[in-house]
Amino acid sequence: MDVSGKTILITGSTDGVGRYVARQLAARGAKVLIHGRDAARAKALTDDIQRDRHAAPTFYQADLSSLAGARQLASAVTRDHKRLDVFISNAGIGSQNGGAGRQTSADGHELRFAVNYLSGFLLAHLLLPLIKEAAPSRIVNVASLGQHPIDFDDVMITKGYNGSRAYAQSKLAQIMFTIDLAEELKGSGVTVNSLHPATYMNTTMVRAGGITPISTVEQGGEAILHRVAGDDVAGKSGLFFNGMNEARANPQAYDAAARKRLRMLSLELTGLSA
Ligand SMILES: NC(=O)c1ccc[n+]([C@@H]2O[C@H](COP(=O)([O-])OP(=O)(O)OC[C@H]3O[C@@H](n4cnc5c(N)ncnc54)[C@H](OP(=O)(O)O)[C@@H]3O)[C@@H](O)[C@H]2O)c1
Repeated sequence: MDVSGKTILITGSTDGVGRYVARQLAARGAKVLIHGRDAARAKALTDDIQRDRHAAPTFYQADLSSLAGARQLASAVTRDHKRLDVFISNAGIGSQNGGAGRQTSADGHELRFAVNYLSGFLLAHLLLPLIKEAAPSRIVNVASLGQHPIDFDDVMITKGYNGSRAYAQSKLAQIMFTIDLAEELKGSGVTVNSLHPATYMNTTMVRAGGITPISTVEQGGEAILHRVAGDDVAGKSGLFFNGMNEARANPQAYDAAARKRLRMLSLELTGLSA
């Protein structure tokens, strides 16, 4: 797919792999909508893109640790655009951002579940009219190989919390949502896939976890760009990729009953079922 002139929103693009992808998309002539919490980091990215003589991206500031923040982002994008060719749900926090202890979102949900999964779930639903308008269009959920089954008796991990489990649960939730949404969108011309970009890229979340990076943002970024623009991906939907290759996710992803429980819970928590 030629991304030139296409409108592409990438959440969490003020840093890390999202920042790399935003720059690459701008270089290929896309209308890039960047997002993050920090206006100064967004300005630094905009300056870099303009220094390379590419069109300035539009910055949307929103904190996805509250559902109101996700709603505000969706409203702003909907106000400014009639169509969205690609939505890359990439914003996230790692296992240790903000410390090793359990944290909660503004809505009282376990923080990794809220930022990494629930906000992307809500955004995808609220942006669907715009994404459908641009069909054939794509949704790309940036997940991970780090996956932990969801304990439906304690989704918010109130007992035996650890950051790695919280992160991995949120990433599996994204993959489960991808499979469900692909089913729902069959025949609409919108595809949705998830991927693990690369292992331990040199980014803020990896460094915050005290982990020595073993891959680059370029490696992970190219895998994301392939989901966005690769011709061999057109028409493929509901799949999980490890880098460039299709892969199997944790078995819970293929459990239709578990996915239904997650979907019902997510609709309720986001207020979408009302
Ligand atoms: N790094 C890896 O090795 C790796 C491996 C597998 C999957 N991934 C996935 O790749 C994605 C990007 O990760 P990364 O390594 O590039 O991370 P990163 O460098 O830490 O960047 C994270 C991005 O998400 C944004 N973000 C964080 N919390 C937010 C919040 N509450 N509201 C809005 N935006 C928020 C950050 O914005 P600010 O600038 O405002 O902080 C930043 O732009 C994540 O989904 C991650 O799970 C990464």
